Amino acid sequence: MQETRNGDAMKTGIASIGIQFPPLAMPVEDLARLRGEDPNKYTVGLGCKEMALCPSDYGVVELAVQAARRAIERWGGSLDDIGLIAVGTETSVDMSRPLSAWVASELGIKGAIRSYEVKHACYGGTLALRQAVEWRLSGAARGKSALVIASDVSLYAQGDPGEPTQGAGAVAMIVGEPLIAEIDPISYAYSEPAFDFWRPVGHDYPLVEGPLSLECYQRATSECFSALIGDNDPEEFLRGFAALCFHVPFPKMVKKAVQRLGESFGWDEATTRFFFEEKVDPTMSWNRRCGNAYTAALWISVAQTLKGLREGERITAFSYGSGFGAELLVLRAGPLAKRGEWANDVEGDFKRRSQIDAKAYAELRA
Ligand code: COA
Repeated sequence: MQETRNGDAMKTGIASIGIQFPPLAMPVEDLARLRGEDPNKYTVGLGCKEMALCPSDYGVVELAVQAARRAIERWGGSLDDIGLIAVGTETSVDMSRPLSAWVASELGIKGAIRSYEVKHACYGGTLALRQAVEWRLSGAARGKSALVIASDVSLYAQGDPGEPTQGAGAVAMIVGEPLIAEIDPISYAYSEPAFDFWRPVGHDYPLVEGPLSLECYQRATSECFSALIGDNDPEEFLRGFAALCFHVPFPKMVKKAVQRLGESFGWDEATTRFFFEEKVDPTMSWNRRCGNAYTAALWISVAQTLKGLREGERITAFSYGSGFGAELLVLRAGPLAKRGEWANDVEGDFKRRSQIDAKAYAELRA
């Protein structure tokens, strides 16, 4: 497959997207009743709506494989054109064997391919994507494309405050010709070591310092956006973007980060509200239907947002992973963004999935 060129700058980006959600879901109000909480705490306080859930025989592998299958089918390229498979996840099924090996096995991919898993909490999918983009830009890809997957199942201990934020989902992207979106070669990273959210080896569920994770996320947001904006006027600069997508652990966390950004820019309340309501809140509709899909959460928001964009319109994508690391990317819509064919996957999955009640949820968790 030939690279495209614009002057000296080689362009690369997303050529195809496939998304997969699991076959079960439950409204957070049902969980609230089960836990004796006011449903408004989950819906208004956290901004959550539904949790996507996996049956006992279904998980991160099935999500990743199906998302990849959908991305490849829609792409229409040959498996021989893939030179790299990278899977970002924090739901690893093995300490040694990468999740990419399960995907390659199911899809029948082998040969002169670099295949691996990337771990950095919810940031792993973005790191996999960045590595694929930089592999293409370096020339090492020799014209081949990459299959990048972000796949996760987020579950907390029963009764944990994070339980209503649970979710699952996978996004697969073919990184090659920028037909859906061009990814800017320059991105804005920021990291600091912290124990805000972690899962020690052998633990089934993560340990969370909730307030610290909120603080780290907000600091990372400010640092990355300041680096992107530089000496420009923040309001004028950010108005130039069609939307601002964020990693979505739960929608209130994103809202708080935008409020913090507004404060750091010296915006009044109305300006901050405008940016949140016009440029951020609409990007989280699918996230509200699936809950926190960890590495996939940002790319679910990006995929939803790209659909319908005119060629050339730009968006930002803010990735955050506990521990912590963050990166802000700029994407420019390509000619296939407007059609947004991958939305069919999402609408189909949401329509077909079964809504379970609190009793079935309790049985599933048992
Ligand atoms: N009606 C409306 N809102 C209510 C409410 C009610 N009855 N009861 C509480 N709330 C609001 C609170 O005011 C608060 O909103 P605010 O932060 O804007 O003030 C919100 O609901 C959450 O309440 P809080 O008491 O802080 O919840 P909690 O102590 O149970 O914590 C989490 C819940 C999810 C915030 C916390 O567990 C957490 O941070 N979890 C994980 C964080 C994470 O996912 N990190 C990943 C790293 S990216």
